[in-house]
Amino acid sequence: MAILSRSATSIIAMMIIMGQISCSNLARDFDITWGNGRGKILNNGELLTLTLDRDSGSGFQSKNRFLFGNIGMQLKLVPGNSAGTVTAYYLSSERWDTHDEIDFEFLGNVSGQPYTVHTNVYVAGKGEREQQFHLWFDPTKDFHTYSVLWTPRTILFMVDGTPLREFRSLESKGVPFPKSQAMKLYSSIWNADQWATQGGRVKTDWTLAPFTASYRNFYADTCRAGCRWMSEELDPTAREKLRWVRRNFMIYDYCTDAKRFPRGFPPECYARF
Ligand SMILES: *[C@@H]1O[C@H](CO)[C@@H](O)[C@H](O)[C@H]1NC(C)=O
Repeated sequence: MAILSRSATSIIAMMIIMGQISCSNLARDFDITWGNGRGKILNNGELLTLTLDRDSGSGFQSKNRFLFGNIGMQLKLVPGNSAGTVTAYYLSSERWDTHDEIDFEFLGNVSGQPYTVHTNVYVAGKGEREQQFHLWFDPTKDFHTYSVLWTPRTILFMVDGTPLREFRSLESKGVPFPKSQAMKLYSSIWNADQWATQGGRVKTDWTLAPFTASYRNFYADTCRAGCRWMSEELDPTAREKLRWVRRNFMIYDYCTDAKRFPRGFPPECYARF
């Protein structure tokens, strides 16, 4: 009996370390901010769901603000035919005219076709730094971790710990970097079938509504002093992964869209690391 309970304890301890048991309580960490009952916190705060139907989408925001941090949660996106739906998941500061934002948007697709992960970085109200990716797995089958590592030097968009995108602070080259406004974590699901799926050609099939995205295991590691990751650079292995993602899964990069920038790309596009 003693042996059994000791090993049970260590299994639970291991699962906590491996992040399989959540210590987060989503009701403590988030407010459902719109959707008139379409957003729900379930299972004693372990699960949050947002739904979209013909009348409305829904959304939530974190109660806390963060200024730098390693912030993320697990998402399971709308399954099946999710064409026309967009699930936005982003950090944003609150003053709209000069807001900073670190943006993931998941653009749905017809069954069997890949979601598009759209990313952007806004500084002082200005974005136009879009990069888009497909994923190397089906994001509707299981929960996957989508996180942002935001330090004074860099922003990393991560999926299951694999870096998708890096946005470095290059202020000496005249590239603004978000570093003075705290941000909240937001998510929402809404209808964007005018543009989202295959350029707007595929519309939302409302006979399939409601469309549901699910969330769990939120974490925000914001330790300020002495945090190892605060000064972390991508190590060679992580950099190789980033190259692998860009080579195989990137479908759009504003830095190669010459039509859009006839007078030259923004300065960060010329930086090579
Ligand atoms: C949907 O699938 C098509 C065809 O595979 C792909 O080109 C597109 O990037 C996918 N994503 C969206 C949001 O349309």
